[in-house]
Amino acid sequence: MQTLTTVAALSAAIQQAKKENKSIGLVPTMGALHEGHLSLIHRARQENDIVVVSLFVNPIQFNNKEDLEKYPRTLEADCEKVSAAQADIAFAPSVEEMYPEEVTTVYHFGPIEEVMEGPRRPGHFSGVAVVVRRLFDLTQPDRAYFGEKDFQQIAIIRNLLEQIKYPIELVPCPIVRADDGLALSSRNMRLSPEAREVAPTIYDTLQQAVEMSEFEDVETVQSWVLDTLASFHEVNPLPNGLMFEPEYFEIVDDTTLQPIEKWKQSKGVVGCIAVWLDGVRLIDMVRFK
Ligand code: PAF
Repeated sequence: MQTLTTVAALSAAIQQAKKENKSIGLVPTMGALHEGHLSLIHRARQENDIVVVSLFVNPIQFNNKEDLEKYPRTLEADCEKVSAAQADIAFAPSVEEMYPEEVTTVYHFGPIEEVMEGPRRPGHFSGVAVVVRRLFDLTQPDRAYFGEKDFQQIAIIRNLLEQIKYPIELVPCPIVRADDGLALSSRNMRLSPEAREVAPTIYDTLQQAVEMSEFEDVETVQSWVLDTLASFHEVNPLPNGLMFEPEYFEIVDDTTLQPIEKWKQSKGVVGCIAVWLDGVRLIDMVRFK
């Protein structure tokens, strides 16, 4: 495995691979790799001749300075994991290398960015699109791998590919969960042990919501999830003033991402949630049908 830090070195490696007619799989990440990322790398390994894993904390997708500063950076351990997962290239550029000039491009995605994460993180998806497009340009992949935990991000990348008309296959990969159900996330490492212990309540609640959807309407299920999490600390006293603060729970069509009112309204329905716990913002999702 080669660790490359410059655009020139990456371009040379990609040119060589293209000359040899090799297929390329890209796994874009911001580092702090966990089993979820490794599942993407393993899938890419099975389906491509060359696997490139990018490790780049993209400053322009953070609309909160503190979140950017606190984002875990574990480059050495990440490179070891990328190597153990048998990827060919870890691409870990500096911010200056990725963005030699000020970024002025702004992407718009219409209704799919006007829900859930979009209004709460202004500029986030445009920042994601800018970096993903740059990675696409640099690596010219045949396939790109993204985790379904960031469900809305996948819809955004799909839309980006339609806008820029690149013939890249978008490969969404299932969420990987800890044994207790918590969706793996680089942010989990910022949870205190007490918060980590109760964090699986989020997925438990989502699973109960799916059961409830058999006999309750959409609005009831949505309110139940929000209320259950918001009042969890009243029913189950938690240490150090710990509590769940749900930011949203939306039940949406899995393609348009627009909220639904009736279960039968859409063929595919998912529930997406963002919850604050212990100063950490956790997101998760569940499929209703
Ligand atoms: O999902 C992520 O980790 C990031 O948003 C991505 C796709 C690597 C872009 O920085």
